[in-house]
Amino acid sequence: MREFIYFSRRARTSGNWKDNDLMKAGRMDIVCHFIIHSFFVSNAIRDDVKLHLIFYGAPDPPKHLEITNTGTTLMSKKDISGLIKRMLYKYKKGKKTEVFPGCFIEKKDLLSVVKELKEKGKNIYILDRKGKDIRHSKINSDGVFIIGDQEGLLPREKKLLKKEGVLLISLNRGMVTYMASQALIILQGELDRMLELE
Ligand SMILES: C[S@@+](CC[C@H](N)C(=O)[O-])C[C@H]1O[C@@H](n2cnc3c(N)ncnc32)[C@H](O)[C@@H]1O
Repeated sequence: MREFIYFSRRARTSGNWKDNDLMKAGRMDIVCHFIIHSFFVSNAIRDDVKLHLIFYGAPDPPKHLEITNTGTTLMSKKDISGLIKRMLYKYKKGKKTEVFPGCFIEKKDLLSVVKELKEKGKNIYILDRKGKDIRHSKINSDGVFIIGDQEGLLPREKKLLKKEGVLLISLNRGMVTYMASQALIILQGELDRMLELE
């Protein structure tokens, strides 16, 4: 199972935005693209992906939304924003709540989510333009890959994550900075290639 963490400094942590105002909800439009490119391929939904969304926006940060396609999850490309909204509305203080099969919400920050995944034996990587070239790094195709939003990761957290032994991986040896969803698409392609070669 490959896992992605999308970190957003501004994504709203309550579900009260207007459907035609995704940009004003802390760039929820980018979050929707990220979900689509995590799970959807032509005429199919990937069942080997777990997605973690970490939101630090107003009014009640941090929030950790975990999404897996269980086959019964109500996932339609047309209503991704509705899925996130419903998950945020169902948040219950002090609990990890399963809102739909395979879809959970809780209050947890990036570092704590990473530490938990490390304890489960996962290898963690930060996607970073200045990191080591993905094609020249020994990475696990079932690792955990952290991708930042339009503003990237918080410098303080990046420093702490590096202390935890998280590796920085570049998609192109620093030549181009991609949008988060573009970085994800390229990464998925690299991981698919890797799986085929394994
Ligand atoms: C729009 S970029 C963020 C730009 C932000 N100003 C920064 O410096 O981090 C969104 C995310 O895509 C990923 N990304 C973009 N270009 C990349 C590259 N060439 N190699 C690896 N990851 C990349 C990074 O995770 C980045 O946080």
